[in-house]
Amino acid sequence: MDSLLIKGGVPLHGDVTVSGAKNAVLPILAATLLTPEKCVIRRVPDLTDVHFMAEILASLGAQVKVDGDTVTVQARKVRPVGNYELIRKMRGSICILGPLMGRMREASVSLPGGCVIGTRPIDLHLKGMKSLGASVEIEGGYVNLKARRLIGADVFLGGRAGPTVLGTANLMMAAVLAEGVTTIESAACEPEVVDLAFFLSKMGAKIVGVGSPTITITGVKELHGVEHEVIPDRIEAATFAIAAAVTDGEVTIHGARPDHMHAVLDKLQEAGVKIERKGLTMTVSRGRRLKPVDVTTLPYSGFPTDVQAQMMALMALIPGLSIITERIFESRFMHVAELARLGADISIEGPSAIVKGGRPLSGAPVMASDLRASAALVVAGMAASGKTLVNRIYHLDRGYEKIDQKLRGLGARVQRIEQP
Ligand code: EPZ
Repeated sequence: MDSLLIKGGVPLHGDVTVSGAKNAVLPILAATLLTPEKCVIRRVPDLTDVHFMAEILASLGAQVKVDGDTVTVQARKVRPVGNYELIRKMRGSICILGPLMGRMREASVSLPGGCVIGTRPIDLHLKGMKSLGASVEIEGGYVNLKARRLIGADVFLGGRAGPTVLGTANLMMAAVLAEGVTTIESAACEPEVVDLAFFLSKMGAKIVGVGSPTITITGVKELHGVEHEVIPDRIEAATFAIAAAVTDGEVTIHGARPDHMHAVLDKLQEAGVKIERKGLTMTVSRGRRLKPVDVTTLPYSGFPTDVQAQMMALMALIPGLSIITERIFESRFMHVAELARLGADISIEGPSAIVKGGRPLSGAPVMASDLRASAALVVAGMAASGKTLVNRIYHLDRGYEKIDQKLRGLGARVQRIEQP
């Protein structure tokens, strides 16, 4: 298991280009199961989650070819039962459920367990499938779905924390080949859901209202193969923006979509971070004096939960008090104890973390617990004096393409250490 050794105290300077979005490419790759024809997906990031999805598609019978950042998939024939171990390993693979139901009217996937950030049930995914007429049975760790016919319906998909991103994606991918009209109320509005709908529409699907809480899908008989370039990763872009501010550097981020990042950019500017935008390029620097801000994570277009940890690392450096409230996942504060190892002063009160910022950070060995927590530890390590060793960075490789190389390209003293 690799680790990342970071020698802190170096301001980041230079240019970095954002990769394709992990959370768009996973459902888009799954959606290729909806047609027997060839699909070509471009700007696919080189991530372990993407490799898992490619293996899962192959285990379902699809031909998958990876050529740099282009993935070609042809699912002439599809088996409805996915590889238990592979699917169990990656929660995001639940998004094969909708395409399998749409194409085969049948699906068996291993029940995704909980993860460190929360219990993460799939009750809304199953509610969506049942509303189209599927029967649901859970047995031997598998969730088995079957439907003689899939018939469009009106579905309210709001849950405890609001809309569900992959639940919306799954229902959309089943409904595009169902009979009649499906209306999803309280649908997720994330840019990744919009990119998926754009991909499905190019395949011949009839979808209106995506990007709003009400999506209407009129089922069609079949879909055809297409080519598609995935949107850039707004979470990766936000992570680099915060890294620039944390290290008091100046970083120009290329290839991002600032129009997908309003809540993050607004919060950073409120804290005093300077962001100069030219088209799709953003130059981020620390500005004169930073001030603490309060953050509450919300469904899109609110502040993304996937940037909460990185924002906490920034707040830990700024003198004063900030309150960070996590409204999406019930236990997404695993990074707090590890940031404290670096000297941060953070306490947890229910869904909020109280950050008493301004204490200088000093390097230490820390443990990554999940994808975004590991990004926060890397960001904090770059501001800490001395050396920080971030262990278990396999979490990081799930969602950040070549992050150590990109950071070195900005002048960071970061080294990947292969641990036996
Ligand atoms: C997607 O997960 C992303 N993953 C997550 O990114 C992201 O944090 C999340 O959306 C929220 O933005 C991918 O796209 C692969 P949800 P998803 O269903 O779809 C509850 C990252 O770091 N819920 O929108 O699984 C759920 O427990 C990852 O890249 C139910 O109660 O998240 C959570 O509290 C982490 N029942 C809330 O809804 C359900 O059936 C939102 O979850 C489904 C969800």
